[in-house]
Amino acid sequence: MNSNVHIPGYDFGSKSLPPSPISLEELRALEQACGFDNNAREQLRKAAVVLAPHAEDLVDKWRSIIAQHAEMKQVFFGPDGQPDETYKAAVKKRFVQWVIDACEREHDQAWLDYQQEIGKRHTPAKKNQTDAAHTGDVVPLRYLIAFSAVVSTTIRPILDDAEYSTFEKAEIQDAWTKSMLLHLALWTQPYVAACLW
Ligand code: HEM
Repeated sequence: MNSNVHIPGYDFGSKSLPPSPISLEELRALEQACGFDNNAREQLRKAAVVLAPHAEDLVDKWRSIIAQHAEMKQVFFGPDGQPDETYKAAVKKRFVQWVIDACEREHDQAWLDYQQEIGKRHTPAKKNQTDAAHTGDVVPLRYLIAFSAVVSTTIRPILDDAEYSTFEKAEIQDAWTKSMLLHLALWTQPYVAACLW
């Protein structure tokens, strides 16, 4: 699923990306803190089978929720005060790929480096740069955190339709939530002073 992906601006594994300031040891400690263990890894592999075919639907669902929010929707608005549809379309492709990556990618150095990049792309350090856009320069951290509840819980209807037992569905849901919160913990780093992270 991850091979031969050519999405503009999707720089996973690119040599041009700087190494994350977060070490692999710090990543392992974070994984431990949110209970992201070997079982969670295994459950995410199952999640991939169920979620990958619906990745675009999920992103559409998340986008529709953002579009209904007076402040959140503005991070996609250009200087004319209207949604920048070109920007939205470009970002969407990478967001869809993220759903698949979140389920399938090993948490290695390349993965860690790209999490730092995604975090930065929500902040003035990198927002807009990838797509040469001219929208606002930050996704406020409070919304990144709050929205993780939506990203975590909206997979449930898809899981409900999957051919897994109730127990397995709960395990997959838990693994997805842990993964989401792990990503989020990494993405907060560019927002905060290093001494407080
Ligand atoms: C916790 C939930 C969130 C997740 C999982 C998430 C995930 C992502 C991903 C995967 C990308 C593309 C990264 C890449 O370029 O490869 C992205 C970009 C972006 N996201 Fe989020 N995001 C979240 C919250 C939000 C919220 C709440 C907003 C709006 C209020 C938002 C606005 C954006 C924007 C504007 C970009 C494009 C940034 C750029 O200019 O490169 N995100 N997000």
